[in-house]
Amino acid sequence: MKPRELKPNVYWVGAVDWDRRLFDELIPLPDGTSYNAYLIKGSEKTALIDTVDPTMAEELISNLNRLDVKHIDFIVANHAEQDHSGTLPQILKLYPNATVVATPKCKTLLTELLLIPESKIMAVKDGETLSLGEKTLEFIHAPWVHWPETMLTYLREDRILFPCDLFGSHLASSDLYVTDEATVHEAAKRYYAEIMMPFRTIVQKNLEKIKDLQIDVIAPSHGPIYDKPEFILEAYRDWVYASPKNIVVLPYISMHGSTRKMVKHLVSALVERGITVKQFDLAKTDIGKLAMALVDAITVVIGTPTVLIGPHPKVVYAVYLTNALRPKLKFASIIGSYGWGGRMVEQITEMLSNLKVQLLEPVVIKGFPKKEDFKALDRLADEILNRHKSYEFNRR
Ligand code: FEO
Repeated sequence: MKPRELKPNVYWVGAVDWDRRLFDELIPLPDGTSYNAYLIKGSEKTALIDTVDPTMAEELISNLNRLDVKHIDFIVANHAEQDHSGTLPQILKLYPNATVVATPKCKTLLTELLLIPESKIMAVKDGETLSLGEKTLEFIHAPWVHWPETMLTYLREDRILFPCDLFGSHLASSDLYVTDEATVHEAAKRYYAEIMMPFRTIVQKNLEKIKDLQIDVIAPSHGPIYDKPEFILEAYRDWVYASPKNIVVLPYISMHGSTRKMVKHLVSALVERGITVKQFDLAKTDIGKLAMALVDAITVVIGTPTVLIGPHPKVVYAVYLTNALRPKLKFASIIGSYGWGGRMVEQITEMLSNLKVQLLEPVVIKGFPKKEDFKALDRLADEILNRHKSYEFNRR
């Protein structure tokens, strides 16, 4: 994709990765992604904001050539993760007089991860500014969104915020700006759930920190650019501040049908009680969909058979992820079936140690569910309803 001008002398020069399907060899990317880098030509100095994943270095270099960029003074590294910093060494070879601008922590990481000499990196303080002539960059330290060194860069005169990963979305698109809000909302929510949700309280602090900035455009380093910033700011406010909703997320595995039968019964019982349920068969589901569902849910019910003495390994993975993502969940329970014994309730409970959830009486049965087991599931549905009501009541 060729360079595109956002504002006079501010260009998108990144790369769209249409075909990438996995990030960190972990996170599904059903819609690809982009690595957005930006070139700012001031009246005196030129700055590049972030680079691209090293697999797409040629795209960035071609774009700089298309704009006939002979000299770069500063390369702002908002984040040391390699999908943004990985092409720094190549760019520094092509533009040997460029100075990398980063937070002190990012400076250390860049020397360690990419072996960039310390002498090439200028550490900037929170709130420090850098003049490019008639354009001014302001650096806003924003640690832990989502690494300890992260920073946002604000271009004052054009009122553009470059937040790197924050507010981003894994979405390959030929559109420079958001055009289809529903699609971008889903991709940005998936991104928030997978990357930012574990740092929810820190995201809150950063939303506070930037609330008085005059922002016309938010130009993240993944996905389309927001020319209506309120769209993504409002979405983030909902994800990080709003109370959890009347939703049960139910990830499960069934090997021979017993647990599935229990899941079906519980889902019907919950729906009859006016509760929204999001059910995921972990043998098939896109784990990103599960992460997204956890953004708003108040309760998780884990469904699992026993394998050896514990939960099914795919359930272990989902529980580990749920615990790591630290969603707003308030209640949890476990349902499932065993053949001859096991410790799956204890093991799952131990794995949820990050979450401040109350455990509701699990329903773990021997073999195929019987009449009394369905009654126990109905009681669990009643208990979930009561807890949801009391939570809503307590918050009024
Ligand atoms: Fe897009 Fe944390 O890197």
